Amino acid sequence: MCGIIAYVGHQQALPILINGLKRLEYRGYDSAGIAVMNPDLTIYKKKGKVINLEEHALNNKIDSTIGMGHTRWATHGEPCDRNSHPHLSDKKDLAIIHNGIIENYATLKQELQSKGHFFESDTDSEVLIHFIEDIQENLNCSLEDAVRIALTRVTGAYAIVVMSQKNPDLLIAARKSSPLIVGVGKDEFFLASDATPIIEYTKQVVYLKDYEVAVIKNGKLTITDLQNNIHDTYIKELDIELAAIEKGNFEHYMLKEIFEQPKTILDCMRGRLLAEEGKVRLGGLREYIDQLCNAKRIIIIACGTSLNAGMVARYLFQEICRIPVEVEFASEFRYGSPVIRDGDVVVAISQSGETADTLVAIEKAKEMGAIILGICNVVGSSIPRASHAGVYTHAGAEIGVASTKAFTAQLTVLYLIALQVAKEKGTLDNEKYRSLLNELDQIPSKVQTILDNSYLTQSLASLYLDATSMIYLGRGYNFPIALEGALKIKEISYIHAEGYPAAEMKHGPIALIDEEMPVLFIAPKDHTYEKVVSNIQEVKARKGKVIAIVTEGDVVIKSLADHVFEIPETDEILTPLLTVIPLQLFAYYTGVLRGCNVDQPRNLAKSVTVE
Ligand code: F6R
Repeated sequence: MCGIIAYVGHQQALPILINGLKRLEYRGYDSAGIAVMNPDLTIYKKKGKVINLEEHALNNKIDSTIGMGHTRWATHGEPCDRNSHPHLSDKKDLAIIHNGIIENYATLKQELQSKGHFFESDTDSEVLIHFIEDIQENLNCSLEDAVRIALTRVTGAYAIVVMSQKNPDLLIAARKSSPLIVGVGKDEFFLASDATPIIEYTKQVVYLKDYEVAVIKNGKLTITDLQNNIHDTYIKELDIELAAIEKGNFEHYMLKEIFEQPKTILDCMRGRLLAEEGKVRLGGLREYIDQLCNAKRIIIIACGTSLNAGMVARYLFQEICRIPVEVEFASEFRYGSPVIRDGDVVVAISQSGETADTLVAIEKAKEMGAIILGICNVVGSSIPRASHAGVYTHAGAEIGVASTKAFTAQLTVLYLIALQVAKEKGTLDNEKYRSLLNELDQIPSKVQTILDNSYLTQSLASLYLDATSMIYLGRGYNFPIALEGALKIKEISYIHAEGYPAAEMKHGPIALIDEEMPVLFIAPKDHTYEKVVSNIQEVKARKGKVIAIVTEGDVVIKSLADHVFEIPETDEILTPLLTVIPLQLFAYYTGVLRGCNVDQPRNLAKSVTVE
C-alpha cells in the first residue's frame, strides 16, 4: 500500500527510482512520482502506472545522483497528478513521500492554513511537509530536528522520506507502523518499502523500527529515535535472489506463483516435516509449544486470504488438537471489545507481515496479556517482530497482488503446527498421525499433478467468461476454500461471487439460482460427501450450472455436474491444499480471458498498511 524508493550515491538516480517503482508497483498503482536534484529540487508526477511517469520523466534531461520515488494507493484524495507524491512544502524547497495515514492532518492543516500555508492537494501527506517546514522556521532548527519534532506531534502511520533544496545530498527517513528499510551499498544508500527494489544493488539492509529516524548525509547513515538518541545500526543480509522476484517465462506473476506451489510447499516443510522419523520440528515455536499445547483457546486473527487459511485451521485444531478456536477478522478484533483470558493464545497470519489491521489487533491482544504467535511470509516484517514467536512460511516473494502460494504455505505451516501439538498432547492416535505426516509429505507432487492439468481450468474459464455472478459452496475443511475461491474470482476477474457452507445455500442463496448461475462445488470424498451430493441435486433441479472439484474416480458427482475437475486422493483433512489450486487457476484464466490486469487488479494493493 504505497511504495517508497529513494537513492543517494554515485549512480544516476532516475533509472534506480523508475525500476524500483516498477518493482514496488504491486503495492499501489493509482499514481507515481519522483523528486530529484536537477540541479534544483524538481518533482515529476503522473496519475496511473509507473510507465506514465517514466514517459513523462524521460522527456526531461535528468542528471541527479539523489532522488526519491513513490507509487500511490489513494487514501486521502482521488488518484490524480495533483494528489500524487512527492509533495512540496509552502516554499517549495522541501519534498516528502509518505506511506501511511496522518490521522490528525485536518487539525494541523487548519492550523497551517491560518498561518497562510497554501495546499495544492487533498492529501494528509502534504500537510506533514508543510508542518515540518513551519517547525523549522519557527524553531530555527535543523531539518532533522524539525522532522523529529513534527513526528512527535502526528498520530497515525508513516514511512516517509524528505529531501531538501538547501541540503542537496541529504535524505531523511522515518517510520511508524509502515515499513521502511535502508539498503547499504558501497558509498551509496537506498531506502525502500521492501527489499524488492534494492536486491539488485545490495543485500545489506537495515530494518528501521517504529519511531526511528534515518539521516543519510555526506555518505553516512545515522539512526536515531524521535528524541535524537543514537541507535545502533544493525545490518542484516537479505536472503533473496533477484530471479525470485522476476516473472521468468510466465506471462504473469500470479501464474508463476500458482505454478511454484509444489516447490513452495516443499520449502515450507523442509527440515520441519521429518516424515520418516515421524516428527515435526518447528524451531520458531520451541519456547512456546507448551503454551500452545496447553492453550484453553486459540484466537486466530488475519485478513482476506490469510483469514481463510485461519478458517481452515479452526477445523484442524479443533479436530486433531481438541482446542477451541475462534477466527476473527483482524479489523473487527481491535474495536470489538475482545475478551482475552488466561490460557488464550493468539495466532496472527499474514503474508506481508505489514497489514495494519492485523498489527493493531496484535497490539491490542498483547496489551491484554495474550501470547502472540505469528505466521508470516516476509522475513523481518513488522508482524514477526511484534509477535512473541512464530513460523515463517518461506514461500518466497509474492508479487501478484492476489495471494496464491502464500495461502498454501500458510496452510502448510498450520498443518505442521497442529500435527506437532496433536502429537505432544496425544489427541491423535499414532497411526493417524503417521498417515497424516506421510500424506502431507506427498502433497507437493499431488499439487503438481493438478497443475499438469491446468489446461482444463482454462477451457472451463472460457465457458463462463460472461457470468455476472457465481456461488462457491463447500463444507467443513472446504468451506473456507469456497470463500477463498470466491475471493480470488472477485479480485481477478471482477465477477461478483459469494462463498457459503454448502448446506447454508437452502437458507437463502438458493433464491439466486437459475440457468445463468454457475455454482462451484468443492466436493472431495469426505464425511459430508453425501450431503453435498444432495446440494448439487438441489442446484440441478433449479437448472443451475454445476462445476465441481471432486476426488479422482468420482462417478456420482460426475453424472450430475456439468463439469468436474479431479484432484488426487488425499486425507480429508488435507484436501484444502489441493482443492484450492484449480480455483486459483480458474480465477486466473477467467481474469486473463476477460482482459483484466490479473497481477494488479483495480483498487487493490498488496500490502494494506492503513486501517
Ligand atoms: C487476497 C489478498 C488479501 C490479503 C489480505 C491480508 O488475494 O491477497 O486478501 O490476504 O490483504 O494480507 P496479509 O496476508 O499480507 O496480511
